[in-house]
This record gives sequence, C-alpha cells and structure tokens, in this order.
Amino acid sequence: MGSGSPRASARRPEPNPMGSGSPRASARRPEPNPMGSGSPRASARRPEPWWSRAVFYQVYPRSFADSDGDGVGDLDGLTDRLDHLVELGVDAIWLNPVTVSPMADHGYDVADPRDVDPLFGGMVALERLIAAAHQLGIRVTMDVVPNHTSSAHPWFQAALAAGPGGTARDRYLFRDGRGPDGTVPPNNWKSVFGGPAWTRVVEPNGKPGQWYLHLFDTEQPDLNWDNPEVFADFEKTLRFWLERGVDGFRIDVAHGMAKPPDLPDSPDLGIAVLQQSDDDPRFNHPSVHAIHRDIRTVMDRYPGAVSIGEVWVQDNARWAEYLRPDELHLGFNFRLARTDFDATEIRDAVENSLAAAAIEAATPTWTLANHDVGRVVTRYGGGEVGLARARAMAMVMLALPGVVFLYNGQELGLPDVELPDEALQDPTWERSGHTERGRDGCRVPIPWCGDNPPFGFSTHADTWLPMPPEWAALSVEEQSIDPDSTLSFFRHALQLRRGRDEFDGTDVQWLTAPKDTLIFRRGGGLMCALNAGDRPLALPAGELLLASAPLADHTLPPDSAAWLV
Ligand code: BGC
Ligand code: MG
Repeated sequence: MGSGSPRASARRPEPNPMGSGSPRASARRPEPNPMGSGSPRASARRPEPWWSRAVFYQVYPRSFADSDGDGVGDLDGLTDRLDHLVELGVDAIWLNPVTVSPMADHGYDVADPRDVDPLFGGMVALERLIAAAHQLGIRVTMDVVPNHTSSAHPWFQAALAAGPGGTARDRYLFRDGRGPDGTVPPNNWKSVFGGPAWTRVVEPNGKPGQWYLHLFDTEQPDLNWDNPEVFADFEKTLRFWLERGVDGFRIDVAHGMAKPPDLPDSPDLGIAVLQQSDDDPRFNHPSVHAIHRDIRTVMDRYPGAVSIGEVWVQDNARWAEYLRPDELHLGFNFRLARTDFDATEIRDAVENSLAAAAIEAATPTWTLANHDVGRVVTRYGGGEVGLARARAMAMVMLALPGVVFLYNGQELGLPDVELPDEALQDPTWERSGHTERGRDGCRVPIPWCGDNPPFGFSTHADTWLPMPPEWAALSVEEQSIDPDSTLSFFRHALQLRRGRDEFDGTDVQWLTAPKDTLIFRRGGGLMCALNAGDRPLALPAGELLLASAPLADHTLPPDSAAWLV
C-alpha cells in the first residue's frame, strides 16, 4: 500500500492512489476478500494498513468553521479550511456526528443514521468534504452511534405509539416499573449525565405506563441489541457510508450496546461522564463481543476501512478483548487523558497502554484530549505552565508507536473556557441539577483570524458558544506567522514524525532518568525526554530534533520535552 501509507503524506497529494486503500477511492465498493487488508495481525510481510501510525484530527463540527453564518460550524466550513489540516500534516479526520439529530446531545442523539443534518449542510456537503479531503490525501472517518438512537427516531416514535408488548417496543429496553403502581424505575441505574437512566412514558391510553432505558439523556433511548433488526439496520448504516467513500468509523460507546439480561441493580456510582468503573453492569457486558465480530465481518468487506472503538474499560485484559483479530481495528485508550503531569503516572499510563495493545498484537492509540474529557492546557494547570506541559506531552504522545488523536484546537494550545451558566448546553448541566457544568468548555469554536470574536469562525457574532475576546492571540492566522507559536510547533513535530526514520519500530525502551523525568528510546533511534520536575534535566548525548521550550546547554527546563537522535 506504498502510496497509501502515512509516510507518503509528506508528499501529498498522493499522485498514485493504490486501489481501495487510498483516500482517493471515493466511491468504494465492497470487495470479495473477507480477510480485509486492515488487520493489524496480518502477517508481518503484509504492508501496514494506512492507519497504523496515522495522526487523526478530531473535528467537532459545530465548532470548527461556519460557512453559512448561523453561528454553528458546518461541513462546508470544514471543507473550506482543509488547507489548515494539510499544513498541520494530519492523515485523517475523525468527524463527530453529523447525521440527522434534534441535537439534544449535539448529534449523539441520531434520528436518521443515513442522512446528514441540514444544520451541517446535508448530504451534498458531506460528499463535497469527502471528495476534497481525498483529493488532498486526507481520509475521512465518522462517528457512528450504535448504543442508542434519538427519541425522535421513527423506531422510537413507533414504540411509543404501539403501547406495551408489541414488536415495536422490542427494539428498545422497555420494562414495567416496580411497586404496586409501577412508579419505581425497573432498576437503580443512573444516566451517565445524571438522574435516573429510566423515563416513564405515557401510554396511548393516556395513562402512565412502562419505562425505557437511557444510559445517557432522556432523548437517547438505548437500543435492544438482542433484537436482530438492530444489527441489520446498523449494518445498513455502515455500508451506506462506506460506499460513499468514508474511510472508517469511530464507534461511540463501543463497550455499551449489550446489557445483562436481568438488568441487575448497579453499585452506587456518582456522576462521572464516561469514567465508569469495570464493575458497572451498564457497560462491557461480555456479549458485546459478538456484536463487534458482526461489525468486523462488514468492515472486512471494505479493505482499508478502519473501525475505532470508544472503549472505556480500565482492565488491560478486558480492554484488549475488543482488539481481537475479528473485532475492532483500534480502540481508544484513555489512560493518558486521565493522567496528571507526573512522570511516574505518565510512564505507568504509557506502559499499560502498550501492554494492553500487546495482548492482541493491536496497534496502540494515544489521546490527550477530546470533546468529552476537556482540553490539555487546562487539565495541566492552565496559563503558561499548562500550555508548556501540553506541548511537552504532545511530544511524548507523538514519539510513541501507533496512532495519535488530536482534538481540534489542541494544535493552537486552546484552554477550556469558563462559560456563564446561561451559555451551557451540555445535557449534563440540567441532568445533574446544575452540579456538573458538563463539557461545553472544551467545545468553544476555533479562532481563525482577526482581533475580535467570532475570529473568522463565522460571520455571525452570536456563535453557538461564546468565544473569549483574549483568543485573538491564539488564532490560526496569528500563530501561523509566529515560528515559536504552538501551531508552528505542532506543524514541525508532525513533519518530523512523518518524515524521519527514527520514528520507526514498535518498541519503547525506557532509559535511566532522574526522579520526575522520563526518557525513552524507539527502535528507530528516536529518544524522547520529558521533564515533569522542577529542576533542569541534563539531556543524553545526541542531536536535538525538537524541543517544546528553549534549551540552555543541552539541558531541558521543567515542564518541557525534547526529541533527540
Ligand atoms: C460521546 C459523548 C456522548 C456519548 C453519548 C460518548 O461517548 O463521546 O460525547 O455524549 O457518547 O452518545
Ligand atoms: Mg453553519
């Protein structure tokens, strides 16, 4: 797959696409080879799949760029700004949901999984995006949401209208309530966003009746994956997008879907959006793996297409089960995203992530930030220190073998924004009774240019979340002309990662390093040093490729990292 490899991306656009593995193969057709070409366990002699060392760039479409002036980002806005992604040097886009949705959870409540919401420009805008991105050698992966639908989905509306007992209700998890009048929910499960995970419906006869399960918001009823219609429809969705040239999927709540048949009570778990523990019966039920095997059978008909699961499972062995050769290609590993700026904890997170992937000879993945967990700069303390640490950790992540996910705005060093109460939109805010502010702070639109909000993001001053005036200095335009900016730093780092042989190899060797620091070496010869302490670190001998902060006498200041060869 020579020209399809991320290595070739320095020479984008690719002049000679190689069949279906190439992003240029827009209108993909299923191919008869059921083994697929994408399995990381494919024999050592097989060429690596395109994604095996890719940098994915996560686009939160509401917040990237607005083309039609309604204050909400959309797909044509993204298409117009693809040059930013080319300059940054990423291999693929992961697009958060753009399918038809009432937007109760900003697209994770899907009313029609096989059409694009008009808010984002409709189907034609996605087709334009795919064509333009492929032309530039950038692949497009999109979110799919199998665990639940929107309550506006025709299936759910039919289930409400049908009343208890019918086949329409069997596509969801409807149950009678407990207690003499059925007023007590069927079990004690909580919604991930707060409040009960059950809502009671009013039956067609006008009386209170059954309850339905929703692990997330009331508008996100959980599907019953024991009903074969559910997979049949999901398969249709996967094929629909793959045949339109999509290069793969990020599978939302990939550890959800299957529920224990008796729906047992769960231990008391506080509200922690997507941070559940492994003994939580709401997630990671063993029968989920049969679903993943069925999904993989579909994926394997489209060689080169990748499946990436959101797998919030802590235990390495349990996590790795999702990466068996007939399940997902890649699984998000969130250890780094949950780790403080502490050398011991970081090394532990890296070692565990590598060990977990190694169980199934899967490709490791690295994530520091996304639309759920918040921005790195803020998590590491905010301000200059937070930014310095975010840059340093980006170098650690980019030095590791495997796949990296960047979250839009991470390359600009954006922090989370403290939004006023009245601006908050995440369902968590309401459902937690205003105790959890939710995830809006990391979803504020991207500043592109100019001195004042909306900084070229939109022509509409009233953006869907307000943009802070002090972001003028962080805009893409400002940072592009400053060689020391965070954006220039990311561009340089990605260029090195893509172009230098020292980043080859899958092994990571830890070198002796003083307290509060770490140094590792890759098989190809790259050394990465991180100083998470408060004293300068004398670097090992070697030629400096890049440092996240200025060095003095080959010593690394606190809160910074360096690459050496
Ligand atoms: C997504 C969240 C979403 C949830 C429900 C997640 O894991 O990343 O943003 O709220 O699934 O679909
Ligand atoms: Mg718009």
